[in-house]
Amino acid sequence: MADKPVLWLPRRVSDATVARARENYEVILNEADDVSTADEIVAMSARVDAMMPCHSEIFSEDVVGRLDPRLKILANHSVGVDHCDLAALRARGIAVTNTPDVLSDATAEIAMLLMLGAARRAVEGDRIVRSGAWDFWSPSFMVGKQVSGARLAIVGMGRVGQAFAKKARGFDMEIHYYNRQRLAEDKEFGATYHNSLESLLPKGDFLSLHCPATPETKNLLNAETLRLLPEGCVIVNTARGALVDEAALIAALRSGQVAAAGLDCFVKEPGGNPAFAEFENVFMLPHIGSATVRTRDAMGFRALDNLDAFFAGRTPKDLL
Ligand code: DGY
Repeated sequence: MADKPVLWLPRRVSDATVARARENYEVILNEADDVSTADEIVAMSARVDAMMPCHSEIFSEDVVGRLDPRLKILANHSVGVDHCDLAALRARGIAVTNTPDVLSDATAEIAMLLMLGAARRAVEGDRIVRSGAWDFWSPSFMVGKQVSGARLAIVGMGRVGQAFAKKARGFDMEIHYYNRQRLAEDKEFGATYHNSLESLLPKGDFLSLHCPATPETKNLLNAETLRLLPEGCVIVNTARGALVDEAALIAALRSGQVAAAGLDCFVKEPGGNPAFAEFENVFMLPHIGSATVRTRDAMGFRALDNLDAFFAGRTPKDLL
């Protein structure tokens, strides 16, 4: 029997994924579950035929240029591929896949949690009860912003944007969206299409970001675009930190232009931006949009499906 291809798992993916991977691959698992440096990635490329990176492993142009020709495929354990220089990988003939679809609901759930938590003052409320400081109640106490029936602006109506819109419809929200292409009418479910960000933003009493991070979308939310939003809006970001100019968002929170924000993604990860910590109207999570047992298994299995197809000589479903 031919030798099994060697597969590197640089992060601790789900146990079910590791078990299935071992059936068809010689697995090298990074038990330490730490982030590999550029040199470690390059060194590993001489030992393996395939890697299953997460968004934490960076394949910059420099790293890709130094990869050993033995490496044939990066089967990403993520839908986002902004950590990969796709042009450089293509030029090296290395196949790249991702894991779309399977994390849309889990990520949309976190967007809903952040939207509700930011709007209804979850951080402040939890702190008051938890610390024993809750000694007062009145009809004017901790009044927040109602989500039900409000206008929601979605930037990026791909799979996650659509999953979020579906959940938001359960809250009777009036949905507006901006996407490079308008959805087919039967997929809009009554949402209003805007052909520019400038047209969408004035509708964003609530604004949720669901587009990929690319050079074009970097700092999409900045001092200028934040001014186009209605005063007192709520911002939600479960996509990528790079979409938001964090200094501009902090200034908008300070001025009241933005009433609250729910953030699962930051420019610097891990770590986040400590400057947000002074704002109790900012509800933050540590990039856990897709972190459920079911979704982690589904992401790992989708990545393995792509690998299995590749090594069987078929085109992987999610080849980029
Ligand atoms: C993704 O899949 O892009 C998520 O952000 C987790 O990496």
